Order: sequence, then C-alpha cells, then structure tokens
Amino acid sequence: MRSKTKFALPTSGKPDLAAMASYLTSGDLSSVVVMVGAGISTAAGIPDFRSPKTGLYHNLSRLKLPYAEAVFDIDYFRKRPEAFYTLAQELYPGKFRPTLFHSFLKVLEEKKILRRVYTQNIDTLEEIAGVDAQKVVYAHGSFAENHCIDCHAEMDKEDLKVIMENNEIPKCKECGGLVKPDIVFFGENLPARFFKLLDADLSSADLIIVAGTSLQVQPFASLPTQVSCPRILFNLESVGDFGRRKTDVIRLGPCDEGIQELAEKCGWDKRLTEVWNSTAIKKWKSVEEEEESGKKTQAEVLKAINEDVKKKKSAGDDDGAASKDNDANYIAEAIGDLEISESKEREDAKGKFKPEKNKVEQE
Ligand code: OAD
Repeated sequence: MRSKTKFALPTSGKPDLAAMASYLTSGDLSSVVVMVGAGISTAAGIPDFRSPKTGLYHNLSRLKLPYAEAVFDIDYFRKRPEAFYTLAQELYPGKFRPTLFHSFLKVLEEKKILRRVYTQNIDTLEEIAGVDAQKVVYAHGSFAENHCIDCHAEMDKEDLKVIMENNEIPKCKECGGLVKPDIVFFGENLPARFFKLLDADLSSADLIIVAGTSLQVQPFASLPTQVSCPRILFNLESVGDFGRRKTDVIRLGPCDEGIQELAEKCGWDKRLTEVWNSTAIKKWKSVEEEEESGKKTQAEVLKAINEDVKKKKSAGDDDGAASKDNDANYIAEAIGDLEISESKEREDAKGKFKPEKNKVEQE
C-alpha cells in the first residue's frame, strides 16, 4: 500500500467533489485508476445485476434457474448452457450507446491522467466510448474471444454470434465440447492481464474512482481497499468501506449526474458533452443500412442536420461564441440533438417509445 498523495484536505469540513476537482486539475496528479460495475451502464439501457426489481438477478424467472447466479456458474453451464445463451443474446455488445460516465473516461484519457479502467462489465462500452483498449482491463472477461470449455480450442467470434442468433448452442469443432465466450464465470479465474497489471496500477494511483458497483464479488470488491490515495464513489448506494477514510468522497445518486457535476467543477463539461455527442455519430454510420431499408437517405439525414445547425445558429441557441466558431463541434452537437429527437419521433410513431435516451436504435 502506498501513502504518497499530494491531495490537500480542506482546512474545515470533509472533502467534496469541488476539492477533488481542484486535485484533478492541479497538475499534481498523473494517475487515475477507475473501477466500475454494471451501474455505469444502466443509463444505456443495460440492467445491473443486484438492484431490487430492475436488476438481472431479480428478473431471471423465465430462465427457471435454481438460483439467480447459476446463469454465470460454470458447473450449471455444463448442464444447461441454454440459460446463459438466452441472456448472452440480450447482453451481446453492439446494441448500446456509451453513457456520459463512459465518455468521462475518454476525457480523463485525453487529459493524460487515466492510468487504467478496471471494469466488471462485458458490454465493452468503455472502448466504444473511445478509450484505448490498453487502458481497459476486463476483470470479468468479455465476448471478444470464445473457447471450448474442455479442449480450449478457439471459436471465431462471428461464427459464435451466428450460432447464438439461431438459438443454437455453440459446440467445439475439435471435440464437440461446449463453447463459451471468455466471460469469467463463478468458479473460474480472472484473466491473467488483471493480475499482471494490478499491483503496478494500484501502487501508482493518485486517485481512485469507483462507480456503479455493489462491490459484492471478489477479488474485485477488495481493490478499493488496497490503496491509500483519495477515493471517490459514484453510486446509488454506499458500498464497501467507503466513508471510513478522511479522504473519501461519496457522491450518491445516478453516476451520470455525479460525473457531470465533477466535470463542471473541473471545467471539462463542454468537452465531456462533445465526447459524448460524438458517440451518437456512430449511429449515423449505419445510414447506408437505413438507405437500403428505404427509411432515410443519407442526403435527407445531412439536410436535416444542416437545417438544424442553421436554425440553432440563427436562434443563437448555443453555449457561446466559442462553439459557434467551431463548426465540427457545432455539428456534432446538432447530430446528438437530432439523434435523440428523431429516435423519439420514430418510436412515438410506433407507439412504443421508452425513455432510454442512450440506447442505440436497432431496427
Ligand atoms: P451489481 O448489480 O451488483 O451492482 C450495481 C451497483 O450499481 C449497485 O450498487 C447499484 O445501486 C448501482 N447503480 C445502479 N444504477 C446506477 C446508476 N445509474 N448510477 C449509480 N449507481 C448505480 O453489479 P456489479 O457490482 O457490477 O459477475 O456486479 C459485479 C458482478 O456480479 C458482475 O460483474 C457479474 C455479477 O455476478 C459476473 O458475471 C461474473
């Protein structure tokens, strides 16, 4: 455990987000380690595991499991792989847009102070938000690779996806054993990369940010206790041993709200908005697909963007001269606005709009 910290406690009262913002922008800090769980992705429309009523473990009765966590239990998988594969189809990456919290990680990377993100999530939204793969440790694995649980032969990601989408169970071409994505199940080891990087990352950390996790699953749950630097928690509830240290800051509530507040206090909110809006542009890359299905032509999309930009400019509806001077940012913002309003229109038209503003439309 390392004790070096340049964080100055306030002369009176407890430290708060403002104190952490001063620390983050002081230039004294070069290594932020972030530890996250399912709660950072709920705003994207992906349920977490343990929240009462909305969590996955409370909504798995359709899978008829002996107990909820069996869906990620390797022994149960051997007996009934279809339970996991039913869920895997729903959680498979590529259907969801990163949240504001994910985009904040990208901002930290741009500021050159992001040492690493340790994520328990398998949605890969950290990378979809633009964070370099080298900065991310998938502590509970991911869908990136798939292996036979008996002979360990690899199955191609695309092959597995097709089999899964046909509601079939992927079997090994070599030995006929069950194939499973390299998601860490209960009873399996964490990836070697987790253990390789952990010690050096934790001993160099100037600040730990923990978000959206109940800290119920070991060894991840003990990571925040292994550092002596200041820590911030963004979560709906207090978890772990947060609050026991003088330098802890706890921001209860939705983590997107908390991170917006921190970004504002750092003076990074405008950049955070730009980075988050740029994640919406990914949707417009599928315009060709929309053209094919006859829904909207690329020309129509661009015309709509241009009209909206013109409207906004003439109404002075922006946050100042600086953004007016920067057309790229201005258009990125406009695209972000359009994406949300148009997806609402389309869903409304079908009479099934759900207020999941971050979820990328799949039509
Ligand atoms: P959990 O579902 O256990 O915890 C999610 C935490 O996020 C809870 O404390 C929620 O209150 C909080 N939360 C939910 N929405 C939030 C929001 N919008 N803003 C802030 N906080 C929010 O999920 P994890 O801790 O990630 O393992 O679960 C850890 C592991 O348990 C998972 O990786 C998975 C599971 O079994 C495997 O699959 C191996």
